[in-house]
Amino acid sequence: MENREHIPTHVAIIMDGNGRWAKNLGKERYEGHIEGVDSVRECIKAARRQSVRYLTLYAFSTENWGRPIEEVNALMELFCKSVIAETDELVKQGVKVVMIGRRDRFSERVCAHLEQIESKTAQGDKLTLVLAFDYSSRDEITTAVKAIADKVLSGELKSEEICENTISQHLYTASIPDPDFIIRTSGECRLSNFLLWQASYAEMYFPQVMWPDFKQDEFDKALEVYAMRERRYGKL
Ligand code: IPE
Ligand code: IPE
Ligand code: MG
Repeated sequence: MENREHIPTHVAIIMDGNGRWAKNLGKERYEGHIEGVDSVRECIKAARRQSVRYLTLYAFSTENWGRPIEEVNALMELFCKSVIAETDELVKQGVKVVMIGRRDRFSERVCAHLEQIESKTAQGDKLTLVLAFDYSSRDEITTAVKAIADKVLSGELKSEEICENTISQHLYTASIPDPDFIIRTSGECRLSNFLLWQASYAEMYFPQVMWPDFKQDEFDKALEVYAMRERRYGKL
């Protein structure tokens, strides 16, 4: 892994398999989510150590609101608790947290924690941690299309000026480079509405391990897989 060229600038992870991990051990699904927070901590450390600049974590999809209310509430509570427990350490490590997704459906308590972690970590310059929370890619693209249409209607933008970059610049990820490497744990091979536009040339990796078992060694192993890939972007 000495060759810096082979370190992805942006790693994005679909953290999947918490429920199955818990079930396999005869535990409640919630315990899988708790152990999953430890994997988040580990992957942030590994990303920092490997000089990855952006780490995006899919934490809650717009579709996840459809889970039983007890599980949704438990996930929201876990988010708030983690913000309280982890913010100081993130600041110390130079991690800047940026949230992507909708902001209009959270409770006041969740919104307050979300704003707190973003403002307290805003000066971080080692790693940008992008948390996709109430995020889905189709929702993001729909919001972007509406914003672009409004600009055309108001005369701020001409339709013939719309290019790929216009679309990128209206997504939640406007200031973030596209992911180089997308990892989904638990062996499922789908994107589940994650970064559909941004993933156009990302390398993909689907390890069998459940998210609570994805610690620093698994992150390092994933980066070794990435280093072996040849990215051609349609050229020879
Ligand atoms: C991922 O684990 C966490 C979230 C989607 C919030 P799951 O909760 O989806 O776990 P499985 O896929 O049911 O095992
Ligand atoms: C994707 O996992 C969303 C997150 C990891 C936050 P899901 O478990 O919700 O996805 P599906 O339902 O298996 O596609
Ligand atoms: Mg799942």
